[in-house]
Amino acid sequence: MGKFTIIGALTASLLLAACQPGPKAGKVDAVRLTAADADSSNWMSYGRTYSEQRFSPLTQVNTDTVAKLGVAWSHEFDTDRGQEATPLIIDGTLYTTTNWSKVYAFDAKTGAPKWSYDPKVDGKRGFSACCDTVNRGVAVWNGMVYVGALDGRLIALDAETGKVKWSVVTVDQSKPYTITGAPRVIKGKVMIGNGGAEYGVRGYLSAYDAATGKMAWRFYTTPNPEGKPDGAASDKILAEKAKGTWFGEGWKKTGGGGTVWDAMAYDPDLDILYIGTGNGSPWNHLKRSDGKGDNLFLSSIVALKPDNGDYVWHYQTTPADSWDYTATQHIMLAEMDIDGKARKVVMQAPKNGFFYVLDRATGELISAKNYIPITWATGVDQKTGRPIEVPGARYEKNPALAMPAPYGGHNWHPMAYSPKENLVYIPAMTVPFGYMDDGKYTHQQGKWNVGIDTLATALPDGDAARKAVKAMMKGHLIAWDPVAQKARWTVEHPYFWNAGVLATAGDLVFQGSAEGVFAAYNAKDGSKVWSYKTHNGIIAAPSTYSIDGEQYIALMVGYGGAAPLAANVFLPDRQRLPGRLIVFKLGGTAKVPEQPLAEKMQIDLTGVTSKGSVTDGFALYHANCSVCHGASVSGTYLPDLKTSPMLLSAENWKSVVIDGARQPMGMISFKDYLTNDQSESIRAYVLSESAKAKAEMAKAK
Ligand code: HEC
Repeated sequence: MGKFTIIGALTASLLLAACQPGPKAGKVDAVRLTAADADSSNWMSYGRTYSEQRFSPLTQVNTDTVAKLGVAWSHEFDTDRGQEATPLIIDGTLYTTTNWSKVYAFDAKTGAPKWSYDPKVDGKRGFSACCDTVNRGVAVWNGMVYVGALDGRLIALDAETGKVKWSVVTVDQSKPYTITGAPRVIKGKVMIGNGGAEYGVRGYLSAYDAATGKMAWRFYTTPNPEGKPDGAASDKILAEKAKGTWFGEGWKKTGGGGTVWDAMAYDPDLDILYIGTGNGSPWNHLKRSDGKGDNLFLSSIVALKPDNGDYVWHYQTTPADSWDYTATQHIMLAEMDIDGKARKVVMQAPKNGFFYVLDRATGELISAKNYIPITWATGVDQKTGRPIEVPGARYEKNPALAMPAPYGGHNWHPMAYSPKENLVYIPAMTVPFGYMDDGKYTHQQGKWNVGIDTLATALPDGDAARKAVKAMMKGHLIAWDPVAQKARWTVEHPYFWNAGVLATAGDLVFQGSAEGVFAAYNAKDGSKVWSYKTHNGIIAAPSTYSIDGEQYIALMVGYGGAAPLAANVFLPDRQRLPGRLIVFKLGGTAKVPEQPLAEKMQIDLTGVTSKGSVTDGFALYHANCSVCHGASVSGTYLPDLKTSPMLLSAENWKSVVIDGARQPMGMISFKDYLTNDQSESIRAYVLSESAKAKAEMAKAK
């Protein structure tokens, strides 16, 4: 970041600040955020700085001292699904969010709760959340705390009291939109996107006035399906660039996708905001666009002017996406020498498996290389910037077993960058996935609309086949050299869905894992130098701060997210435990209370039968239930349906599946989608899977 701009911004904001009485808490403004890197005590925005490097200059906790790291304080929350938030710390107050978009403020030194806020999201919204009812955190600006709620509201809270200052609905709530991402504030505007492309929505980013909640501008990432202008910042560029890249009718029913559900970064020098856009809706390009056209601006990094949403440039990582290869993954800015020249770059490891280094002024491709083994493309053409696809990868005629899966080679889990090492630490994964065209696809409003045959994802029966797939599924913490485009070191994890990363000037890289181990690695060579068992899975990235000369490391704990819902086939039985915030410091001796594990429910299904059809139930289960209850009824961290007392009678089952008895907890009524007979067939199928599992267990004994 250039000195001159900081000074320029300083003078401008100081002049402004001088005439206004400041807020009591949450004193974040353009000056502080622009200079955030030097302010090691605080962590004022999602990725710590506008560059989103997640690198802290703090050194008290380092390779020599880390062995003394212990718990300073902890807090237990009232939600037991995935916790994805990065806690922010501003002048002694820690702000975080939990599942179901609840916001909490704590004294960052003592852990004493200051206030909390529950937006009371209707449990029904959980149905539209492909990837769990998670929330990745808040933004803070000029005395207010901003949270995007799962139901599409953007809410501004008083940073001192937690009282609502304003609230706006940012989406058409009759559509399956959700918000899980953290807002960012740039020059007095709150930036917020949304998700929902698996169900059928049109993606966009909106900017709201931070003080009043009035919308300033909106940028749609796909053309208007009715062919008319939106009166939005994107109108001109969509007409110029995107129009001829979409074909057929499929996308018109869904809106095409391209949701801006996670990554943003900002360069104050160039005054450019970078956003990442999501996958196509439906996934299958044949079904979405008749198999023709690049479908701009899906799966792209798009550079915009934050004042008005004007387009600057875009780079499409996966043209004509057909695999759910989003480019919403962490966007990170850095400066480095490449071929003897100092370059200002933007970096991303999107789902498609390639690590991209682009010039951030122009979007020019500097280099791209796959960071995990992939099957769908052999490389990226240096001239065109396009992937070189492998014939058949698009599964038009035959199913394709592909790597990466829709989970990506890397998902939302934040990376971190160490300028000391010039390494990007990527929480990566290798997961294969069977893509198969859904010959019978028709759009069903509000439902899972991906255009691939979900039966291809039903795991093969039998131990050998399951073991073979399991052997391929691994997590990796990769220390990636972005100049050489190769790994310097890699740590392998037994389960593929692990946590976000933090890098520090203490030469440490912190990452939690699916098994619940929070570990510190030597940033230079990946050797493990410290670890702590949380007894719950970890997916969130930690943040770090200092108060009164002591360095703290804050971590949200609680397993969940997309993969544990749909494919957590191979994790040992994981109980649903309440989420926690655990804060560490050197010499910390606080005890985290034990979490008693519930007795594993034993149900006796002897003599329990169903009049339903197992075959029908198999297909219906995978079309309707597997995204949350796991392929082949695997028993995720949601209730394991194979051992659910709801199986005991047709009435029990109906009360939940058709009558919606568990709606407030996110299990909607399926009465709009299934007849009672169909629901009963699913029960018959689950009963058969349950009997199979029991027999397998008996054999194993
Ligand atoms: C959007 C995610 C989602 C989908 C899709 C989904 N469920 Fe659920 N289901 C849940 C959640 C969350 C719970 C737990 C609710 C609670 O906290 O009690 C649940 C609970 C249940 C239970 C109660 C289990 C018990 O022992 O308490 C049954 C039965 C059930 N689901 C059946 C189904 C069936 C059948 C389908 C497909 C027709 C389905 N679910 C689809 C999210 C989902």
